[in-house]
Amino acid sequence: MDILGAFAEFETQSLAAIAAAADEAALEQVRVDYMGQKSGRIRDLQKLLGMADKDQKPVVGKRFNEVRTAISAALEERAVGLRAAAAETSSSFDVTLPGTVQRGGRLHPITQVINEFRELMGRFGFTVVDGPEIEDERHNFEALNIPEDHPARDPLDNFYLACAGAVSGGPVLLRSQTSTVQIRTMEQTQPPIRIVSLGRVYRPDTIDATHSCMFHQMEGLLVDRHVTMAQLKTVLSQFAHSFLGPDVEIRFRPSFFPFTEPSVEVDMRWGDTWMEIGGAGMVDPAVFESVGYDPEEYQGFAFGLGIERFCMKHFGVDDIRRFYENDLRFLSQFG
Ligand code: PHE
Repeated sequence: MDILGAFAEFETQSLAAIAAAADEAALEQVRVDYMGQKSGRIRDLQKLLGMADKDQKPVVGKRFNEVRTAISAALEERAVGLRAAAAETSSSFDVTLPGTVQRGGRLHPITQVINEFRELMGRFGFTVVDGPEIEDERHNFEALNIPEDHPARDPLDNFYLACAGAVSGGPVLLRSQTSTVQIRTMEQTQPPIRIVSLGRVYRPDTIDATHSCMFHQMEGLLVDRHVTMAQLKTVLSQFAHSFLGPDVEIRFRPSFFPFTEPSVEVDMRWGDTWMEIGGAGMVDPAVFESVGYDPEEYQGFAFGLGIERFCMKHFGVDDIRRFYENDLRFLSQFG
């Protein structure tokens, strides 16, 4: 009788049965069939042990223990694997539970409008440039032909800062208009120029539903030879049409700005109402002189539009203060 051969056969068969057990109940049946104390096939092997020759006994005994240990380990390992698989497919994950809603962020309505303005003006060939929000008097006033005694320079109408300018050494203030960027651009570039600049401006206005001490403007500047006011009006009405549709009309009213001549207020008709959206005009020769351009050679037009105005009308918001309160119940309605 080949005892060791019988052991090997037993081992092979039981390991195969363990591997084939599809669930915990089937595995338990395999354990009973092979290793059960009462009727398991292991009992047959034990009987063989007793029939071994005396000198064979130590080898056979050792082998018997090895087989038993290997099968016990395989049973245990398979049980763990089956339990994990069962846990994964059933109880622990309930697909019917409502998930955690990931709330994505969105752009602020003013940022959305700014992005759209950049895009529209870009299609008209205007490059976007930026300028600093802390300005010196040259860029906010002097080069824009706003003299020392002009009421717009009244300290009570501006946010002057308590420190001196790092470059100029003179007084600095939070810019009150984006027209500063016209000067900065012309100081650095030669005509032709076609730029827009969108950003914040600051004025100590009394805050109410239509006024804020900080708001946004879009400044536009075009400098070239043979520039006319008709081109200015065309650009502004094309811009308004692109943003709001073909029914929108643009109207100019005579006005005054120190840096444009002639100057106009720009109104836009939206539905039944005319709404003032900003100022514009032909660049004043004095401005060209202050940046070293020859006013005989070049003309230009400039405009400054209030972005909040568009934003309020576009989104149907009736109080400018809502934009700055960071209330998600308000902000999450847009976009
Ligand atoms: N800077 C002017 C303002 O803030 C607007 C403006 C810009 C007017 C350019 C004319 C030309 O009111």
